[in-house]
Amino acid sequence: MTKVLSAVAWPYANGPRHIGHVAGFGVPSDVFSRYMRMAGHDVLMVSGTDEHGTPILVAADKEGVSARELADRNNRFIVEDLHALGLSYDLFTRTTTPNHYAVAQEMFTTVHRNGYLIEQTTRGAVSPSTGRTLPDRYIEGTCPICGYDGARGDQCDNCGNQLDPTDLIESHSKINGETPEFVETQHFFLDLPALAKALGEWLDDREATGTWRPNVIRFSQNILEDIRPRAMTRDLDWGIPVPLEGWRDQPTKRLYVWFDAVIGYLSASIEWARRQGDPERWRDWWNDPEALSYYFMGKDNIVFHSQIWPAELLAYDGRGSRGGEPGKYGALNLPTEVVSSEFLTMEGKQFSSSRGVVIYVRDVLSRYQADALRYFICAAGPENQDSDFTWAEFVRRTNSELVAGWGNLVNRTATMIHKNFGEIPAAGELTEGDEALLSDVRTAFDTVGGLIARHRQKAAIGEVMRVIGEANKYVTDEAPWTLKAPEQRARLGTVLHVLAQAVSDCNTLIAPFLPHSANAVHLVIGGDGEFVPMPRIDEVDDLDGGPGYPVITGDYSTTPAWESRPVKVGAPIGKPTPVFTKLDHAIVDEELARLTQEAG
Ligand code: MF3
Ligand code: ZN
Repeated sequence: MTKVLSAVAWPYANGPRHIGHVAGFGVPSDVFSRYMRMAGHDVLMVSGTDEHGTPILVAADKEGVSARELADRNNRFIVEDLHALGLSYDLFTRTTTPNHYAVAQEMFTTVHRNGYLIEQTTRGAVSPSTGRTLPDRYIEGTCPICGYDGARGDQCDNCGNQLDPTDLIESHSKINGETPEFVETQHFFLDLPALAKALGEWLDDREATGTWRPNVIRFSQNILEDIRPRAMTRDLDWGIPVPLEGWRDQPTKRLYVWFDAVIGYLSASIEWARRQGDPERWRDWWNDPEALSYYFMGKDNIVFHSQIWPAELLAYDGRGSRGGEPGKYGALNLPTEVVSSEFLTMEGKQFSSSRGVVIYVRDVLSRYQADALRYFICAAGPENQDSDFTWAEFVRRTNSELVAGWGNLVNRTATMIHKNFGEIPAAGELTEGDEALLSDVRTAFDTVGGLIARHRQKAAIGEVMRVIGEANKYVTDEAPWTLKAPEQRARLGTVLHVLAQAVSDCNTLIAPFLPHSANAVHLVIGGDGEFVPMPRIDEVDDLDGGPGYPVITGDYSTTPAWESRPVKVGAPIGKPTPVFTKLDHAIVDEELARLTQEAG
């Protein structure tokens, strides 16, 4: 039983999340975690809301509320949405807890003590009209590397390079267009060049496994070539204080949001262990070199997970060119794999909340089944290339694949058993056709499991749907409705038994993708409807005296094994109600009208 850390990107608490976000980090990480638990591994799946940094401040300013109030509200909103989507976090917490502050400060202190945080005087941007510091990402200009004219002061989205605001050509403030003034300010820089060799060795070692997606490993290796120290503190009054003499009490010096956000993976693991009453248990996933860790995100996050976070870990462990000793957490594991998806667009355009090209998770879930959205993301999401969400395609996939494929197989199997036997019949002698279907289904456990383990979820769900297609074809071929004569009753029983078995196995195969309907199908075919565990929301007290907050957590110890289990002969089968809702084609126009309304 391997320890597997599922480290899921932390959504910003600056607003509600749209389906592009959950297609990137949410559903893929849940499918993987659910499968790995079914395959017998000891999974720890952690995340939370990312509540520091400028995006939160800007959103709070706009609404005239405090950053804390804004973060509180969006934290709760996001918790509710991710829970409704069925994402099976062991702990989904937030970055504003005293626990997270303490862990982030311990990381900073040790990395500093090991010599990888160097103090430098730099020039920081200030707005001439307000006198306030201008955060990097609110400065725009031309990228000095690729010439793209929409580069930001923190990063160029065109070439992916990290930038400093002073690098930009013709910089201007995104807030009011004015040219920023640059004034001298002191900051701590992570000495990435001193970690470059160790980073390169780690990446080469990872590349040799052959399991990373090629675009992710290539991008990560490329950005090593132009590696420079990066500022890990900011002139900001919202964030984690810098835990050093002379800095701790300065009201406008804070840790850079990305420095602390990635530490969330560790702090959430520690919080989880503390909440289990076994405060050292997180170490099984972080100190044991045999433990595996998978990080899930959209592609705009790659640099922070394949460079900044591993660099923080190497520096903490004392593994850069300056040497050093690990702090009290001991030597921490680097990521096994950075699993990044590409972007989801919407009706051919980039998501943009401000331009109304957006569909929030909450809105989809208020009108459609969570598993319909999950199915779309798994089957047509941006796994290894950008992909487009359109309402027409959503309706088509739901109706022709979920409803007419899987839903129909479940429904007609249950209906025929209910009408003819009222319970799962025993099988007589099996024909070649019966054996062929059952063995096709059983073989799929290895195929589908292997694909999910290698992050090829589209191919994996495609294989499940292929097997479902075979089962539907078996129904047509065997035409059980023609087996009416008394001497055909035994054969009818055998066919329906084989079908019940195929449905039961397909339901196991599809459970990581569609957990809500896996429970519904379980009920339809004679189970108790509690097949796979679901997450819950707990209102918890803070562990260190801070304000309470909602968390997503769950008991996943009853996860069924990834294997075929024989159906129970004699299990009563009632008249089924359809598991999936067929969508009326009219919703396409309704939803498109909503989009234009919101944009206008
Ligand atoms: N908040 C970031 C985003 O939404 C992701 C942070 S991932 C973290 O892009 F793990 F580093 F926190
Ligand atoms: Zn560029």
